[in-house]
Amino acid sequence: MNHDGPIGIFDSGIGGLTVVRAIHTALPDEATIYLGDTARVPYGPKSPATVQRYATEILAWLLAQRVKAVVVACNTATAHALDLLREQAPVPVIGVIDPGARAAAAATRNGGIGVIGTAGTVASGAYRRALLALRPELRVIEQACPLFVPLVEEGWFGHPATRLAAEEYLAAVRLGDVDTLVLGCTHYPLLAPLLAEVMGPDVTLIDSARETALELTAVLDRAGLRAPAGGGTPRHRWAATDDVERFAMVGSVFTGEALASVELVDLTHE
Ligand code: DGL
Repeated sequence: MNHDGPIGIFDSGIGGLTVVRAIHTALPDEATIYLGDTARVPYGPKSPATVQRYATEILAWLLAQRVKAVVVACNTATAHALDLLREQAPVPVIGVIDPGARAAAAATRNGGIGVIGTAGTVASGAYRRALLALRPELRVIEQACPLFVPLVEEGWFGHPATRLAAEEYLAAVRLGDVDTLVLGCTHYPLLAPLLAEVMGPDVTLIDSARETALELTAVLDRAGLRAPAGGGTPRHRWAATDDVERFAMVGSVFTGEALASVELVDLTHE
């Protein structure tokens, strides 16, 4: 297989850049190409069939860029489309849900795990299934937090409105005696300080971005697909399906680095 190809990463928008940041840290020699489907974000409230169609189109585009592996950085797309993408792709496809579930199952001491995500992710029950497959005795409390994505996009990480929403959404989770909370959405790591405060010091927050980067490392190693070390600075490409200026601006908050030029991609004409 093609060791030189980049790792393809996609999300419904800019949120998946939290996963890119983790991948760049874990795998500094790997080139990456990231596509944010900013024309069609958000995926959270959309039907499984629609998200599957979008994800299939993005996979085809990434494969045309000769990627050697694909990371579905979006929790909602992972929940609805991971199995389908794995059937279609000739390269390894990694989602964010199994790595996050594994980390949560390993972290909990009292067996109580909260999962927060978009409406689609929570309705799919994908995290619950993944967690119970690992440890059937776990108690899983899931909560959709649909307002978090627009609040994060607004940059309101510690804003009183965000705190109010967090207190409301997390009330039931807190009553459930959980000691671990899975941040099951690309945007939520940016709310980690606020969520930690609302949940209290005894609750461990699980950021699936870091876990996914570790899983990707293991998959590349197993398949013998790692780029050789010391090959110079790898190239990182950025692409979006709409509003590349906003992508570059908000994206720099997610990655912590200025994004080089962002390509505009029209998936309907590929
Ligand atoms: N990327 C999505 C996720 O992780 C959040 C944004 C959206 O709803 O599209 O579920």
